Amino acid sequence: MKKFIKLFIPPILLPSFIKKFYHPLIYKNKFNYDNSLYNRGAFINRSIIKLSSKNNRNFNLKYLEIGCEYNQIFNTIPLEKGMKIGVDPERGGTHRQTSDDFFKNNNTKFDLIFIDGLHTYEQCQKDVINSLNFLNEGGIILLHDMLPQNSYEEKNHRSGDVWKVAVELQLSKNIEFKIANVDCGVGIIKPQPNHKYFKNDKLLHSKYNDFISDYFKDLQIVSCEEAFKFIDKD
Ligand SMILES: C[S@@+](CC[C@H](N)C(=O)[O-])C[C@H]1O[C@@H](n2cnc3c(N)ncnc32)[C@H](O)[C@@H]1O
Repeated sequence: MKKFIKLFIPPILLPSFIKKFYHPLIYKNKFNYDNSLYNRGAFINRSIIKLSSKNNRNFNLKYLEIGCEYNQIFNTIPLEKGMKIGVDPERGGTHRQTSDDFFKNNNTKFDLIFIDGLHTYEQCQKDVINSLNFLNEGGIILLHDMLPQNSYEEKNHRSGDVWKVAVELQLSKNIEFKIANVDCGVGIIKPQPNHKYFKNDKLLHSKYNDFISDYFKDLQIVSCEEAFKFIDKD
């Protein structure tokens, strides 16, 4: 029925048209992503190859994805069935539950965890803290949507305010952290021994303008190639 009604609406009034042509005029991008020919899927897959060859693991790695949706990424992960776990309360993956419920009963450790579930500051913070507790030595955590380009992306797009977690990670103890400037920002966490995640309550009420004016310049935002060197480094 919706499709039928759409036939009678002039294209210039369709929400998709408005979004494509008017939003860039209203919500100006504050920065651009690198034109690196990588999206998050390619980035995760290359990271898996790197972890696999680094320790001669021959793809004997455990992967966890928090938030799988349509399995767009999950189904590209080149690991055997029991080696990849996907958690999503709605659809996709292997476990139909929230990340909080999953971690309550989990006793598996992972080599690569991709966090892309509920995009709120508080939930993403919980997902990172839980993931840090279930990461094998030498493992990495990747996070999606660390860098919203404008306030529309932050509020109405799926990025949400997970950038606040990036700000906290940057100042946490013994946690190496960089953001690859591709596909809405892919965060890379490499925890070191005795790491500690530092919360910053000041961020709770911070807005997108604060992100750009107070925090953006201090984030370690790098190209894809620099990000891969960072993953390679011991
Ligand atoms: C942005 S989508 C994930 C996209 C997918 N990772 C990809 O790259 O194509 C976010 C997903 O997180 C799921 N989600 C929402 N709340 C969650 C929670 N508390 N724990 C785990 N997943 C959650 C949603 O159901 C949704 O499918």
